[in-house]
Amino acid sequence: MDADTVQDDLINILFTEEQIQGRLGEMAKQIEADYEGRDLLVVGVLRGAIMVIADLTRAMDRHVEIDWMAVSSYGSGTTSSGVVRILKDLDSDLHGRHVLIVDEIIDTGLTLSWLVANLSSRGPASVEIATLLRKPEALQMPVEPKYVGWDIPNEFVVGYGLDYRERYRNLRDIGTLAPHVYS
Ligand code: IMP
Ligand code: MG
Repeated sequence: MDADTVQDDLINILFTEEQIQGRLGEMAKQIEADYEGRDLLVVGVLRGAIMVIADLTRAMDRHVEIDWMAVSSYGSGTTSSGVVRILKDLDSDLHGRHVLIVDEIIDTGLTLSWLVANLSSRGPASVEIATLLRKPEALQMPVEPKYVGWDIPNEFVVGYGLDYRERYRNLRDIGTLAPHVYS
């Protein structure tokens, strides 16, 4: 879906499809260099990370394995409920694996700090985080992603996997949601 279709719902377009692809390409090169000669398991966090996983992994010129987890820390609104639950666990055994968790956004950091602790307890060789977006002002838990696409202001954004009530995930660009949509 193009931003024109939902332009009344957006305050602005933060990142276009082209900008997103460009930044993911840079991140992919960095990851390739860092993991050279090592086997890599990319863990995607459903459902928001589907687009990032698809484009980030295809931008890598190497083999990767991809596995998925679904966790829930949000209700259907725009604020964190503070509760993390596993809705779908990994199929892979993490023993001795180099694990890269890929997410689309770090907001409070609650989900990822919990996920890092959880995956780290399963005997992996390493656990790192790559995220397309981060809201530094919203951070409540110590989460240190090794790869960050962009830092953004503390506003609710949609598109490129990011939803509001399951909508806008298929928007090609990332934009700031207008308050009239959720208030
Ligand atoms: P955190 O645990 O607060 O860091 O964020 C957990 C999840 O909330 C993210 O992976 C997203 O799925 C969702 N989320 C956080 N901020 C936004 C936003 O601005 N737009 C859409 N989803 C968001
Ligand atoms: Mg979400």
